[in-house]
Amino acid sequence: MAVVITCGIQKGGSAKTTTAGTLSYLLSREHRVLAVDLDSQGNLTELLTQQDIYDFHGQTILEAMKEQDARGYIHRIDDTLHILTAEDLLATFPRWLYSEYGDNRSLVLDKTLEKVKDDYDYILIDTPPALGDQTINALCASDAVVVLFEASRFCYSALERFLETVGHAQRKVNPKLKVAGILRSMIDSRRTDSKAFIELVEEDYPELVFETIISRKAATGRLPINGFFNNSELRQAVEPFHDVVKELINRV
Ligand SMILES: Nc1ncnc2c1ncn2[C@@H]1O[C@H](COP(=O)(O)OP(=O)(O)OP(=O)(O)O)[C@@H](O)[C@H]1O
Ligand SMILES: [Mg+2]
Repeated sequence: MAVVITCGIQKGGSAKTTTAGTLSYLLSREHRVLAVDLDSQGNLTELLTQQDIYDFHGQTILEAMKEQDARGYIHRIDDTLHILTAEDLLATFPRWLYSEYGDNRSLVLDKTLEKVKDDYDYILIDTPPALGDQTINALCASDAVVVLFEASRFCYSALERFLETVGHAQRKVNPKLKVAGILRSMIDSRRTDSKAFIELVEEDYPELVFETIISRKAATGRLPINGFFNNSELRQAVEPFHDVVKELINRV
């Protein structure tokens, strides 16, 4: 049965999608992987499929969640990498949830994935920059969460609230959820404030930080343009993530 892993932090632009996409791609070279785009921006969909998100209209994670069954909505990228896509209409998910759905609002995604869990080794979920219903559903469907941290005051402020939300999900709904780790990413090592934040997070959460730190790198930043297939600079782009994969597999 698949290990389900969420990439999250409510601060925008903290490498959630880049991390979810790259980990999905790398894990899928040796395992069966389902990537789940739970953000109406559809960035993970675009990153992994290199297609327009509107190509998937009517066949996305939103329709799968309404049916509470992922079968029939999974798109194949290659043999071992599959995806549940997202587009703008996923923004209507909370409205549907509150008007159509009574109890257990946080377990809709969990139920949706239930029937396909045996088909995969890993399911990776990308979440939007908010602590709303999508993120709560992702946490309640997951075995582990990778918390993204980019070195900024705003992300530092977000971290404590995010971990509180994880604790809340653990206590109220999903006791099996654990923090796989805090991944410090998009780090500019020339900046002294970045260095200070890296150290501060390590002092605050010594048990939780991944040893691997992902630096800001042009080839990684170009992944949305070049994708993972037929990308001549793929090796440079994903190279630092191999160590994250090793740490992650040991921690989940
Ligand atoms: N290591 C990196 N080096 C350079 N650029 C990066 C790196 N990681 C991510 N980026 C770029 O930074 C931007 C933000 O990354 P990404 O979209 O992954 O963040 P996010 O947390 O998913 O954002 P959102 O909160 O909007 O969903 C993107 O343009 C991405 O290509
Ligand atoms: Mg994103």
